[in-house]
Amino acid sequence: MFTSPLIAAPMAGGTTTAELALAVQGAGAFAFAAGGYRTAEQLAAHIAPLRAAGKDFGVNLFVPRTEPLAPGQAAGLARYRAELASDAARHGAGVPDVELSQDDPRVQDYWTEKIALLLEDPVAVVSFTFGLAPAGVVAQLQRAGTKVLASVTSVPEAVAAAATGVDALVVQHDGAGGHTAAFLAPDGGGFSTLPELVAAIHARVALPLVGAGGVCGPAEAKAALAAGACAVAIGTALIRTDESGARALHKDALGDPAFTETAMTRAFTGKPARALVNSFVRDHAATAPAAYPEVHFLTAPLRAAASAAQDREMLNLWAGTGWRSARPGPAAAVVEGFLREL
Ligand SMILES: Cc1cc2nc3c(=O)[nH]c(=O)nc-3n(C[C@H](O)[C@H](O)[C@H](O)COP(=O)(O)O)c2cc1C
Repeated sequence: MFTSPLIAAPMAGGTTTAELALAVQGAGAFAFAAGGYRTAEQLAAHIAPLRAAGKDFGVNLFVPRTEPLAPGQAAGLARYRAELASDAARHGAGVPDVELSQDDPRVQDYWTEKIALLLEDPVAVVSFTFGLAPAGVVAQLQRAGTKVLASVTSVPEAVAAAATGVDALVVQHDGAGGHTAAFLAPDGGGFSTLPELVAAIHARVALPLVGAGGVCGPAEAKAALAAGACAVAIGTALIRTDESGARALHKDALGDPAFTETAMTRAFTGKPARALVNSFVRDHAATAPAAYPEVHFLTAPLRAAASAAQDREMLNLWAGTGWRSARPGPAAAVVEGFLREL
């Protein structure tokens, strides 16, 4: 299914650019485009250079939540809005009122239009995160000639994903940078390493597995492959590269020894995501409500203002546990460094 044992993970929010995807492709990795947060038109524009290049690539989409926010979460959102007012004021930003209805296109992440686009003009691979695509959508994509992947973080999620008929699974360990793909409540069977998680899922589900999360060098990649993965995906290792669209503040923070740890936090978007621990994480990790994507839109102006003011203490500095190995320079050099040893 993949032309390489190394995959460039999709990184929405600006990090995965077409330039990054083309650079990793050119160096021999399989590239994913990042469809999350984009409208169908924006996605079409993002992948146009990849279509033109003529090689197989994947598109990643967010699966929207299926239920409206519970009343308790809506109340938590109002409280969080008040809590963030002083942070936002520091850089002259406001905190918008973001009561979004369940059918708001931002809550749906433009799902219907993007699926229509991918059915009309299919790509080789589509992967989903944040939940399971309905079996009917999986089958439609497959009929269009697309291989479909679901992202999972546990054995129960892998079993549920397999039941929707997908072709393969992205097995994401907790050490991954950015948002967790988790869509079921934790079952208490957490695995401390990616190879352990891959092996446990390999023993239960007969599908090809892509290992992801904390793969910061060839040794980690080889261990995941030895545990049963057919490929490994890297995200954080590419954030600092020349072609990555991450902010310079983010790239520099990953190389700054002043940052000493990462943590899973809902503070920026309402969904757990792994980031470097800065003031914003310290101040709000305990109080942010489980309200995604509302919190994402609530904090967006504050983050934009912090970025303009060069204030990295209020930015979402997504980072996996292997962040210290991320290097600046051409993305091709990172890919070649892995492929030389795989
Ligand atoms: C900045 C950033 C953005 C991400 N965005 C997405 C995304 O849009 N879709 C997705 O499925 N995973 C996303 N992820 C997770 C990656 O696909 C992948 O699982 C993860 O980066 C692997 O772990 P690593 O960062 O330790 O290499 C993102 C990760 C990062 C670091």
